[in-house]
Amino acid sequence: YRFDLIVRGGTIATASDVFRADIGIRNGRIAQIGEALTGDCEVIDASGKYVLPGGIDSHVHVSQPSGEGIVMADDFESGTLSALFGGNTTIMPFCLQEKGRPMREALTAYHKLAEGNCYTDVSFHLIVSDPTDSLLGQELPALAADGYSSFKVFMTYEDLRLSDAEILKTLDVARSTGATVMVHCENEDAIRFLIARHEAAGDVAPRAHASTRPVAVEREATHRALSLAEIVDVPIVIVHVSNGEAMEEIARARARGLKVVGETCPQYLVLTAEDLDGMDWEGAKFVCSPPPRDKAAQAECWRGIETGVFDLFSSDHCPFRYDDERGKRNPKGLASFRHIPNGIPGVETRLPILFSEGVMKGRIDLPRFVSLAATAHARTYGLYPEKGTIAIGSDADLAIWDPTEKRTIRHADLHDGADYSPYEGLEVTGWPTTVILGGRVMVRDNTLVGAKGDGTYRSARTRGAAPL
Ligand code: URP
Ligand code: ZN
Ligand code: ZN
Ligand code: ZN
Repeated sequence: YRFDLIVRGGTIATASDVFRADIGIRNGRIAQIGEALTGDCEVIDASGKYVLPGGIDSHVHVSQPSGEGIVMADDFESGTLSALFGGNTTIMPFCLQEKGRPMREALTAYHKLAEGNCYTDVSFHLIVSDPTDSLLGQELPALAADGYSSFKVFMTYEDLRLSDAEILKTLDVARSTGATVMVHCENEDAIRFLIARHEAAGDVAPRAHASTRPVAVEREATHRALSLAEIVDVPIVIVHVSNGEAMEEIARARARGLKVVGETCPQYLVLTAEDLDGMDWEGAKFVCSPPPRDKAAQAECWRGIETGVFDLFSSDHCPFRYDDERGKRNPKGLASFRHIPNGIPGVETRLPILFSEGVMKGRIDLPRFVSLAATAHARTYGLYPEKGTIAIGSDADLAIWDPTEKRTIRHADLHDGADYSPYEGLEVTGWPTTVILGGRVMVRDNTLVGAKGDGTYRSARTRGAAPL
């Protein structure tokens, strides 16, 4: 039996099993899993290490237009490089439909940005910003059949929010095409009301971002999104859930029989609204929506991870520079928190934080980690079983974790295009020190050996479409 690469002696974990074995890789895929594999090829010694499926981060923003004068800090090159060093082999960024324009136009431009520039594989979600009859009737069904099988809709942001009527129609397209809809749940009218009240009171510092997006704003919208999905009778994904009350809405909808996938993110486990305080606009470094909450909400989110309310753990990486002309994140001249672009970087730190805080501290076991890191993402968005597991025939996308590696997170050591990390100073144990993409070693012992362009675009199946 001939292999191109053997990973020897590691402890392999999938979403269901943990076992000691060698992995034989041929033509970019896993060809054999067994004992004492040999071959006339490169052999990576993984003894003392965990060999896990490469991470899949299914919620990442790169090169997404974000309003006048605001430029996202990562393009496909820096975004995928940062993802790779954080143990990921696939990311799923968002292609944003421009209002009044066809989705295809945005997709063509987005593919062009990605082509030849990626260090990980990529697959796209489509943001529906203008659900016209032609988009819903012709374009989305054709795109869903063409490998673009997940749509995101927003209940917030002035220029992105859809009405309930528009959300119902989009959900109906998902029902008939087998696409999956991700919903950003926050009540925009309530937020506008609170922003006006805070500005009138002169309360305009970054912390007011959190005060104007309280839990009730998210809980109400989560309940509404779940109700709309129930009425249409279609599965949905509730993204970036920040607290126990929104989580309970998901659990209750599940108990009624709705198929719903819940997602949470590192910021809701280790940050709080107090981080938005701080000298000199420093709090802007933590402005994301929904905002980080409090210690009790962190504990609730951990409970959701442990009990399975959350299937997905994503970064919601959405990087803006803090102290830079282009980014406007440190808008010394701007009058209000309202102008701070929403989103924080985190694609490289997502898995080390979950590994260290979750696995090393005994909150979750290794199979649960693998599911939250990779397997559930592949299953939810139609990339399984090529992606998201270690099995014969699957892509040889592997992250080799050294559970003894201790690090203090410093932005200077990360690879994204932002100029800070919201997790600066956080101590973690365990890091993915070697990363393999499609059988190609991309990072070897913390050193980049792969090349830009080694990662490629991967299309996704719709729900119910037969795998393989
Ligand atoms: O604040 C956030 N989360 N920005 C990213 C865009 C989104 O809503 O996911
Ligand atoms: Zn969102
Ligand atoms: Zn997002
Ligand atoms: Zn950077």
